[in-house]
Amino acid sequence: MDLSGRVAIVTGAGRGLGRAYAEALAGAGAAVVVNDVDPDAAAEVAKRVTAAGGAAVAEPGPVGPAETAQRLVDRAVEAYGRLDVLVTNAGILRDRILWKMTEEEFDAVLEVHLRGTFTCVRAAVRRMREQGDGGRIIAVGSPAGQLGNPGQTNYAAAKAAIVAMVRTWSIECARAGITVNAVIPVAATEMTATIPAFAPHVASWQAGGTPLPQWLRAGEGFGVPADAAGLVVFLASTAAAGVTGQAIGIGGDKLSIWSHPRELASAYRDGGWSADDIAQAWSAALGRWAQDVGIPAPKEPDR
Ligand SMILES: NC(=O)c1ccc[n+]([C@@H]2O[C@H](COP(=O)([O-])OP(=O)(O)OC[C@H]3O[C@@H](n4cnc5c(N)ncnc54)[C@H](O)[C@@H]3O)[C@@H](O)[C@H]2O)c1
Repeated sequence: MDLSGRVAIVTGAGRGLGRAYAEALAGAGAAVVVNDVDPDAAAEVAKRVTAAGGAAVAEPGPVGPAETAQRLVDRAVEAYGRLDVLVTNAGILRDRILWKMTEEEFDAVLEVHLRGTFTCVRAAVRRMREQGDGGRIIAVGSPAGQLGNPGQTNYAAAKAAIVAMVRTWSIECARAGITVNAVIPVAATEMTATIPAFAPHVASWQAGGTPLPQWLRAGEGFGVPADAAGLVVFLASTAAAGVTGQAIGIGGDKLSIWSHPRELASAYRDGGWSADDIAQAWSAALGRWAQDVGIPAPKEPDR
């Protein structure tokens, strides 16, 4: 994949998956604006990319407000003359069970993930439409947003909404040649290091580079951040010009495509449906289509 001449912004690229995306995009030849709320982390990644022969500048700041989004687009244009790719990766967690979650915890997560994705994509698409030669928007969802996850009211809401925006934007941006997709990654980062089944393996990978075991890489689709970066490079490339409106899973040895919500079954009744009619139809037919919820628990093989 050759991304020479392309210019990308990656938000939250100071560590974890965002850093892997920024490094892989730069490795494929793109010039990268490295954003993170942590200025030292952003500067360090930009420095590493440059030291490896790539092109990168750091533009720190909190994703969420429209001003940050505009600053990122302006920096791409000032430094490299244009903008072709935006990866809205920045994210935080404020996990707590519904009845204990505060409004502050709810709002903080929606501010970074949901408003941050909206403001950054809006600023980028405005610029891409002015340029007139298409573009690539790569947003970030999560299995929690697709399936629901206890303790993640705020995060699941934001991530599900991001995929809903992706579907909408893929339609709105099609005529401008701008593709809009969501990646649904699963990888060992600070965000996942504390999941009990994964924690010891993540710790030994972080401490000494011990590869994650096969049951995690293939069985659970859980890998290291670099495993997810190939999907972002593909979506940024001309090879993915026809791919839009999709939610694509990546992690470890696994690549997948998620379904969008669809009506699975339907029934019709002249004059409409009373509660009694629905109760009968539910037990006779529709009920068997009821859907599972939640992320399946990891299945570690018996030793
Ligand atoms: N790790 C996984 O398995 C996983 C699974 C599903 C989704 N995701 C998503 O992938 C993205 C990256 O996650 P990660 O695991 O690399 O997390 P991480 O915590 O390792 O990295 C997130 C980065 O975003 C930065 N950040 C936080 N708030 C910011 C803000 N307002 N503005 C700019 N930068 C900000 C942090 O400083 C950090 O460097 C997130 O959107 C996350 O929800 C991760």
